Amino acid sequence: MIEYGDNVLILLEDEETKYFSEVKKGGILKTHFGNLIMDSLVGKEFGERINLGLRDAYLIKPSMIDGVFSLKRSTQIVYPKDMAFILLTLDIKPGDVVYEAGTGTGVMTSVFSRQVGESGKVISYEKRSDFLEKAKKNVRRLGFIERVT
Ligand SMILES: C[S@@+](CC[C@H](N)C(=O)[O-])C[C@H]1O[C@@H](n2cnc3c(N)ncnc32)[C@H](O)[C@@H]1O
Repeated sequence: MIEYGDNVLILLEDEETKYFSEVKKGGILKTHFGNLIMDSLVGKEFGERINLGLRDAYLIKPSMIDGVFSLKRSTQIVYPKDMAFILLTLDIKPGDVVYEAGTGTGVMTSVFSRQVGESGKVISYEKRSDFLEKAKKNVRRLGFIERVT
């Protein structure tokens, strides 16, 4: 059941147009097909069909990649194919401690934070404080900030 704080992917019936949004109290998602009052999603199930005004849409539980592509990026990011290559080549698994040079947008940091599991840790370095602040927000949204230093 969808609750406040959940992220949701609103996928239009054409299965191409999609909007990623957090379900916030009083939030409104403005789309070309109508405005969606986010409160109205609370209590609905993922997979349900809703009406946006001009189009129907489905409520989809977003994957991490959906979140990655929804971010406003301040730096170049690592793309999904490379993410998988990095995780496999470095053999990153639950319990590992990962050191990352260059947090950037925090996308790869988020992926590492999920992969290392509850007992692992990610230590990430970023020289620009403005990037770091944005990256922290992104990791809170996509990953597990409590596992990241
Ligand atoms: C391409 S971005 C990293 C993108 C990141 N992997 C992601 O997926 O979002 C490279 C980052 O490295 C940072 N950087 C470059 N040299 C650095 C250094 N010596 N110490 C710390 N951060 C550094 C840059 O400021 C930039 O944010």
